Amino acid sequence: MTASRIFVTRRIPQRGLDVLREAGVAMQVGQLHDENEVSREQLVDGIRGADVMISLLTERLDRSMLELNPQLRGIANYAVGYNNIDVQAATELGIPVSNTPDVLTDTTADLTWALLLAVARRIPQAHQYMGARRYKLWGPNLFLGGDVSRGGSGMRKVLGIVGFGRIGAAVARRAAGFDMDVIAHDPYARATIADTPGVRWASLPELLAQSDFVTLHTPLTAETRHLIDVDALAIMKRTAYLINVARGPVVDERALVLALRAGEIAGAALDVYENEPEMTAGLEALRNVVIVPHIASASHDTRERMSTMAAENALAHLRGERAPNIVNPEVYETEQWRRRSQSVAAGDRPIGTVA
Ligand code: DGY
Repeated sequence: MTASRIFVTRRIPQRGLDVLREAGVAMQVGQLHDENEVSREQLVDGIRGADVMISLLTERLDRSMLELNPQLRGIANYAVGYNNIDVQAATELGIPVSNTPDVLTDTTADLTWALLLAVARRIPQAHQYMGARRYKLWGPNLFLGGDVSRGGSGMRKVLGIVGFGRIGAAVARRAAGFDMDVIAHDPYARATIADTPGVRWASLPELLAQSDFVTLHTPLTAETRHLIDVDALAIMKRTAYLINVARGPVVDERALVLALRAGEIAGAALDVYENEPEMTAGLEALRNVVIVPHIASASHDTRERMSTMAAENALAHLRGERAPNIVNPEVYETEQWRRRSQSVAAGDRPIGTVA
């Protein structure tokens, strides 16, 4: 009998690959170079020839992709977010889907604060100024920004957290050090917010109207797509900042560019983009933005741990066991999953060709 096969769409940190190697499974990595995406043909071939796949958020796995292999036993997504996968279709087809939660909570909360401070205090702009050797004379008006803690006004700033899951809560904990008032909105976490000392529930319009900083931590769903649209931006204070470390389409990016250009809000810091990796024209030229390339979880330790988690999830999928970080546990009740978990290893099947 030939070894089971795991298709890893793009190279993940070595530790995860080592976990798979030590388990004795055959591995196919679709794309070895970080700069290259996996082509549709590679994806189709990889899925067809695999027992389990490890995907990245850059691969869109819609129903037609999931239907390619009736023996696929699971998908381990190398991310906490899984909006790149049609999970409903996966469940209907009997495919377990897993993700990498918890390990990136602190790293993402840290980046939220890095962005918040950077946009308020105009750090990247000041850095560029120094890099261009333009600093000739200190002056009282050089790179004026907004206060994060009480600062000159003596007033507490209000931090508004939209999405109060693990990451939103971690962002809130850090606010204590800045002596801020913290308000939060999350229709699915009312009780958690009520139970969190120092955090007060607010409706979304209240939060937008009261906050000096609005940070976004919701998953991307039909409900949260364009949650921050032209109307939401219009409610925000002209002195407020928006920070998005969730998913790009949570914000109507065109509306955001217009609001920033018109000075309707003070600034924005973005880790994610509506049509990633593309950006709305003109975003990068604005003086009141900080933009980074989806790096919220990008620390050495976190990305490595994500890779071992994805590998462990993948091995559980392969063995037909409940994955440690299952996203659609109801799948295990389905007849479709039972059939898949008893299917023949891919090594014993011919690899499909691209249609
Ligand atoms: C995730 O995990 O969803 C982040 O966006 C990337 O680490």
